[in-house]
Amino acid sequence: MLSSFYRNMRLPRMSAAYSTAAKPKTAIVLLNMGGPKTTDQVGDYLHRIMTDRDMIQLPVQSRLGPWIARRRTDEVKKKYEEIGGGSPIFKWTETQGRLLTDELDKKLPQSAPHKSYVAFRYVPPFTEDTFQRVEQEGAERVVIFSQYPQYSCATTGSSLNAIADYFKERPIPTNVQFSMIERWATHPLLAQAHATRIREKLDKFDAQIRSDVLILFTAHSLPLKAVSRGDTYPHEVAATVAATMASLGVPNPHRLVWQSKVGPLPWLQPYTDDAIKDYSKKGHKHMILVPIAFVNEHIETLHELDIEYCDELAKEAGVAQIERAATPNDHPTFIAALADIVATHLKSDTPRVSKQFLTRCPHCVSPRCQMSKNFFKRLCGINVNREPIVTNS
Ligand code: FES
Repeated sequence: MLSSFYRNMRLPRMSAAYSTAAKPKTAIVLLNMGGPKTTDQVGDYLHRIMTDRDMIQLPVQSRLGPWIARRRTDEVKKKYEEIGGGSPIFKWTETQGRLLTDELDKKLPQSAPHKSYVAFRYVPPFTEDTFQRVEQEGAERVVIFSQYPQYSCATTGSSLNAIADYFKERPIPTNVQFSMIERWATHPLLAQAHATRIREKLDKFDAQIRSDVLILFTAHSLPLKAVSRGDTYPHEVAATVAATMASLGVPNPHRLVWQSKVGPLPWLQPYTDDAIKDYSKKGHKHMILVPIAFVNEHIETLHELDIEYCDELAKEAGVAQIERAATPNDHPTFIAALADIVATHLKSDTPRVSKQFLTRCPHCVSPRCQMSKNFFKRLCGINVNREPIVTNS
């Protein structure tokens, strides 16, 4: 049903992005939400988010969702104009995929050539179009690799549901081995990449006060309803924070705060903007904001953090110096993290789906989640001998 929904959408469909190898042996499909490349795409992007019940649940969503999207379009367009006219998330994801597959070709000749594909949820290249492309190009092995290091049913879960929807209308190819990497919040090289980004900013503070600079880790918030249902995102984000601080090895005070709340319902707190204001009142006048759940720059870092919080709010709140750590982007340590995660996964030599993924949130009552878990059990559990495999990880 969602596939036909997307077919009727207004945006022109785009070819999936992929590296130069024509016939890959191994496809690495990079899942993410995506962002509008140009301001013309903003309306459709918001429409898709607001009507995606995996991402956000609203009363009478089929009417209220499009209404909210229309109402917010001009304001959001203006924000994209202020960061240069569009989101860089496609550019970064494509670059990360290319660098990742270059590494994999060197590390693992037995599964080469590797080819990366970008699969976005709310803008082209759409997840279902990318899967069609992967099938057409004939990879023998497909690794579904979420680019959200911390799993949430609202983000990675939504992208995976889109894959399940795609296969509702077609048979699962039995000559392809599928597997999934759906979370990697505590990978040591991810923590090291974040730590390096923080150190770059710590160095900008006077050496006399450097160890007192407050490090505010900030991540996209989540509705409390989802938290209470048992979504694993909050504790996975906290795990990345702990791993990053351990890698950084500094005594600085630090906290995890939450940004980008939408709508009137309660979301996970403390909010990033409130934390900046209240810490300033408490005498913390030197801070670093660290986007800990994003692997590349996009509107929430370039506009919300850089412009709204660092340029405007921090000044009003009397903060003396505030810096924002860069996201991992194409940092070599981050690319090494991606390569290590995928290489380790491929070397395990079995189609895989984790028990952690297959276990639903304790209070989940969604038939869609049940459908999706069952689907991935079949998709990733089928090998060429059609024997089901479920691993322990
Ligand atoms: Fe988490 Fe359904 S909401 S598994």
